Amino acid sequence: MDPNPFHEDDLHIRNRPDSCTLVIFGASGDLTHRKLIPALYTLAAAGDLPAGLRVVGFARREKTDDEFRAGLEKLNREIVRGGHQEKLWEPFSRSIEYHQSEFQDAEGYQRLRRRLDEIDANGGSGNRLYYLASAPEYFDDILTHLRGAGLSEPRESGWSRVVVEKPFGTDLPTARQLNRIIADTFPERDTYRIDHYLGKETAQNIMVLRFANALFELLWNNRSIDHVQITCAEHLGMEGGRGGYYDTAGALRDMVQNHLLQLLCLIAMEPPADLSADGVRDEKVKVLKCLRPLPDIGSVAENVVRAQYTQGTVNGSQVVGYRREDRVNPGSMTESYVALRVMIDNWRWAGVPFYIRMGKRLPKKATEISIHFKEAPRVLFNALPGAEDMPGNVLVIRIQPNEGISLGMRSKLPGPAARLQTVKMDFQYRTSFGKSSPEAYERLLLDAMAGDATLFARDDEVERAWAYIDDIEHAWHRTGSPPKMAEYPAGSWGPREADELLHRDGKKWRRL
Ligand code: BG6
Repeated sequence: MDPNPFHEDDLHIRNRPDSCTLVIFGASGDLTHRKLIPALYTLAAAGDLPAGLRVVGFARREKTDDEFRAGLEKLNREIVRGGHQEKLWEPFSRSIEYHQSEFQDAEGYQRLRRRLDEIDANGGSGNRLYYLASAPEYFDDILTHLRGAGLSEPRESGWSRVVVEKPFGTDLPTARQLNRIIADTFPERDTYRIDHYLGKETAQNIMVLRFANALFELLWNNRSIDHVQITCAEHLGMEGGRGGYYDTAGALRDMVQNHLLQLLCLIAMEPPADLSADGVRDEKVKVLKCLRPLPDIGSVAENVVRAQYTQGTVNGSQVVGYRREDRVNPGSMTESYVALRVMIDNWRWAGVPFYIRMGKRLPKKATEISIHFKEAPRVLFNALPGAEDMPGNVLVIRIQPNEGISLGMRSKLPGPAARLQTVKMDFQYRTSFGKSSPEAYERLLLDAMAGDATLFARDDEVERAWAYIDDIEHAWHRTGSPPKMAEYPAGSWGPREADELLHRDGKKWRRL
């Protein structure tokens, strides 16, 4: 029997993806090789790519089409889930070509235009999806030249859309500036800001869990929920030269401003009026508007902990401390870990803290959200010795790995004595659906081709999130006596100060 009788088409929540020519700017980079091409190949192998899709890789280095394809193939072999198959790669790779140009070279975009027209004249779909996968400092040039070459103009023969990768600016003013540049070239409805966490299957399931099940939504408020924890742990540090970028960003800007605030919005939002992109995004923006600001050093010091890892052991290997990582400034004041206590000042969530923590070089890679329900009254069973230390009802949404949802509850231990133990009801994607979930980029690429922006960030969402983050960055970096930088040994669960953040509220971090 089909384990999942509800197909998306039946629920009318998706359009069909249109065929198009996907132009990837920054095609020599990691994102193209490690994420975009493996995602497209997987879709092609499953027969899910619209027929006639073409890919043009735009980048600076001199390369032939064959050299470009060979480089992509090498990484695809290593990375692609489900395995690389020569007989599938061969026809797929024939749809890929290479376009050499500097990002600032107007003539390169004229050549691109001629090339795209030629593709369309030879059976191409007429639709164009421009993907900005380059370093962000080139976004302005690329958009300006796309406009200059007339490539963004509405055409009768097909649509033009742009996909923008994060970071969307580095603070509110730069995010606004980027939004303005984008808006000069593409209307908001044709702009797709990727936040790949929204493409993760379990993140998408949050809305279904909440709004398709009466059971949870009735309890989803400050009367029943004590607090919420959002944890994103990574065991990796600054491998592969990543320190160069990371040291200019830090955990707060790299992950919290986008991915983790997006998860918070999905947990906290009101039911949308409908499942349209704007219906959903309007509700997320309302949550962001209600985040209690942290306007001064005192409130930042009280509600946010930042830290760097020192040397330690991760997965049995000795690793160096953050400041000794490749391409990291030895006197760096960039955080590799951050923990926050976020309050949402609205009717539903008044008084419920949302604790967020993100760190590099923690013991393992895991992202989860846990909803901690209030205690049952301390009478009857909950008055028994030991009941107090036992976790109560915790609903855990495992974003990755081992995706699933579990509910912890107290149960009677078999036997004559009235003894309690915590047990779990556990739903795992693997066992319930018999297959692993698609990669986020697979879903998001198809959605951009289908014109469905629900899982993409809107301009005002991005700006609201920055407004919240900027106060914290300001207290850290632009004041005379900033809150301190804590430390944690690599391979530990973070600094003591992050534990204290919760102890002060009488709570503790969930053990993952
Ligand atoms: C990226 C961040 O957006 O997300 C990285 O820049 C982080 O620092 C990555 O490692 C995590 O993504 P995922 O899907 O592996 O959890």
